[in-house]
Amino acid sequence: MPSNISIEGSKILRVPKTMDVEALKQRLNGAGQGHLLQFWDSLSSEEQTAFFNELSHMNFEEINGFFETAMQSLKHVADKIDDLLEPLPADVCGSVTRTDHQKQQEYTATGLQAIGSSSVAVLLLAGGQGTRLGVGYPKGMYNVDLPSAKTLYQLQAERILKVQENAKEHTGKSCEVPWYIMTSEHTKEPTRQFFASHNYFGLKESNVVLFEQNLLPCIGFDGKIFLANPHKVALAPDGNGGLYRALRSSIVLADMERRGIQYVHVYCVDNILVKMADPLFLGFCINKGANCGAKVVEKGFPTEAVGVVCKVEGKYQVVEYSEITLPTAEKRNSDGRLTFNAGNICNHFFTMDFLKMVSDPSQESQLKHHVAKKKIPHVNAAGEQMKPNEPNGIKMEKFVFDVFHFTTTFAVWEVLREEEFSPLKNADGAAKDTPTTCRSDLYNLHRSWLQRAGATFTHNDGSPIPPIASSNSSNAGAGDSQRTCEEFNEIVCEVSPLVSYGGEGLDTIVHGKSFLPPVCMERDGAGKVKVTNGTS
Ligand code: UTP
Repeated sequence: MPSNISIEGSKILRVPKTMDVEALKQRLNGAGQGHLLQFWDSLSSEEQTAFFNELSHMNFEEINGFFETAMQSLKHVADKIDDLLEPLPADVCGSVTRTDHQKQQEYTATGLQAIGSSSVAVLLLAGGQGTRLGVGYPKGMYNVDLPSAKTLYQLQAERILKVQENAKEHTGKSCEVPWYIMTSEHTKEPTRQFFASHNYFGLKESNVVLFEQNLLPCIGFDGKIFLANPHKVALAPDGNGGLYRALRSSIVLADMERRGIQYVHVYCVDNILVKMADPLFLGFCINKGANCGAKVVEKGFPTEAVGVVCKVEGKYQVVEYSEITLPTAEKRNSDGRLTFNAGNICNHFFTMDFLKMVSDPSQESQLKHHVAKKKIPHVNAAGEQMKPNEPNGIKMEKFVFDVFHFTTTFAVWEVLREEEFSPLKNADGAAKDTPTTCRSDLYNLHRSWLQRAGATFTHNDGSPIPPIASSNSSNAGAGDSQRTCEEFNEIVCEVSPLVSYGGEGLDTIVHGKSFLPPVCMERDGAGKVKVTNGTS
């Protein structure tokens, strides 16, 4: 095991020059994990050394403690917490559909000002295993088959470049938005190589900082840690909430401080529409004086399986649909909106002070692991590789939003799902959140930008393609979240992030023009915008 990989549940232990296998055996036996050494005598000396190092870094008492707490929590999975729930106070909430243009301009100006003074960083959570998508490389390297063939990483890199440009235009100052990317054991090296081989997509290499989250052993229902093979423990990343522990054990917080970062935008790798360092969201949170903020979309319908941001016993929290009863999920306000409707999309604002506070062991250790029953591949006692068909154990994960618990100055900004949220979770063939739905959502958004800027679209026979209706209505998300892949009608329209970050700046290029799809807008090396469409 490379020495830089840290294992959650580890003490800072020095690996002795000579291996005291007897002492290790005793430690493992004492923790009920003696089976981990069952293949010891059959290992090569290299395998023994690597395995000894791995096990020496693990704190089995702590891991067993996590397991006990996790199993206790499984006993309460069916419990409902309706009585403890409170809606979000109106004064922490804002919405893109209910905030007037002038106010939005003020927020955007605040955000651009912060970006322009190089005090904003973006932090990407990219340590997940992407099991549902099922590709053998990090999700950020996925290309959903846009005409440009850009991957998620490239789209994100270009949005950073563009928001830097927009901030410079606003403030007159050059600025930098450093990009911190949390990876895990299996995503770090391919991600590093990918960025290096693509010249960091035009970003400065020094502004792309990779760091690694921790791992936790996968454990059987009997409390025994699984072996992935005879000389390696079965490990999994400790969840996107592993961020806070990883921040503590990496150089990231110090690096942010050195650069003078004050605000951090944290987001997930798989949302193809994500607006990195969104000036409007940043400005809203900053103007509210919040130390922690969440961007949300309106929950589409009462039974939608999305976590909602609300208050539980006076503290901010994300509550899963499974934790409340149907009558609570269906509860509506006098204006017809669901009472618990702030759908969490894992898109967060933190001040530097808040991040430092929640990464401190005294706070971070209060965050409980969430438990997922999983089918965990492992070697059995006979040394055979097993691939179970049924869940055979648990993975333990912390969630990034669990720190909402610690804020008293919260801000919640509601955006339109079709403008900002389309995650890539599943392979094509699944009902939703696939490459097809991501691609179509991006095309639809970009087509709506061009239409707003005064362009029209025609079919091959010259007949007009009707404009996309903007959903500023109360249940904006409802239709989208229920849409299946078959309902997506691909009218290809891709605007490079280097041309426009959020639909701005297109009027002078497209106003009064008619386009035959496929439409693509790209910027060349000289900064000139090139539009291609079916007639060109
Ligand atoms: P998901 O919960 O969707 O997990 O992660 P996933 O790994 O992408 O996909 P599945 O569940 O295995 O199919 C939401 C976000 O949190 C990150 C992911 O990379 C994604 O951006 N994440 C998840 C981490 O950074 N670390 C983790 O340990 C887990």
